[in-house]
Amino acid sequence: MTKAEIYKETAQQIAAVIDGEPSRTARYATASCLLSESFDAFFWTGFYVVDTNKPQELVVGPYQGSLGCLRIPFSRGVCGAAARTGETQLVEDVHKFPGHIACDSRTNSEIVVPVYDESGALAAVLDVDSEAFSAFDETDKTALEAICKTLLIGADA
Ligand code: SME
Repeated sequence: MTKAEIYKETAQQIAAVIDGEPSRTARYATASCLLSESFDAFFWTGFYVVDTNKPQELVVGPYQGSLGCLRIPFSRGVCGAAARTGETQLVEDVHKFPGHIACDSRTNSEIVVPVYDESGALAAVLDVDSEAFSAFDETDKTALEAICKTLLIGADA
């Protein structure tokens, strides 16, 4: 199967599992598990959610992988950049990214995709890290953005 085909199948699985499920946490957990199981190159796969008590800060949510940092301010790291700009960050070499936060020194490349709720507010970011350099490309960007776009449709506010 091509990478695009694996993404298509994984997106269908996620949609089927979360159908009718109002909990955002359950949806984030389902996506991180199924994405992580689909791709061996995904070393860390998970969500940082906007802290409702501190709107300029992300706090770790459901993930698969080694221990992640608990909190990331919008001003820092690749996740912060995605939250701040509202744009996907595709980083081929994290060591060249200003302010990169090394939660695990084995990470060499990553992609971070913003997740919006149904009202259009930023709810979280999806962070996928790899031990390989340049592990992610436009196929990953398109597919992960599509998954994130529908992830919170039908979820509780
Ligand atoms: N690499 C991220 C931090 C989160 S973890 O790697 C799990 C960043 O710079 O935003």
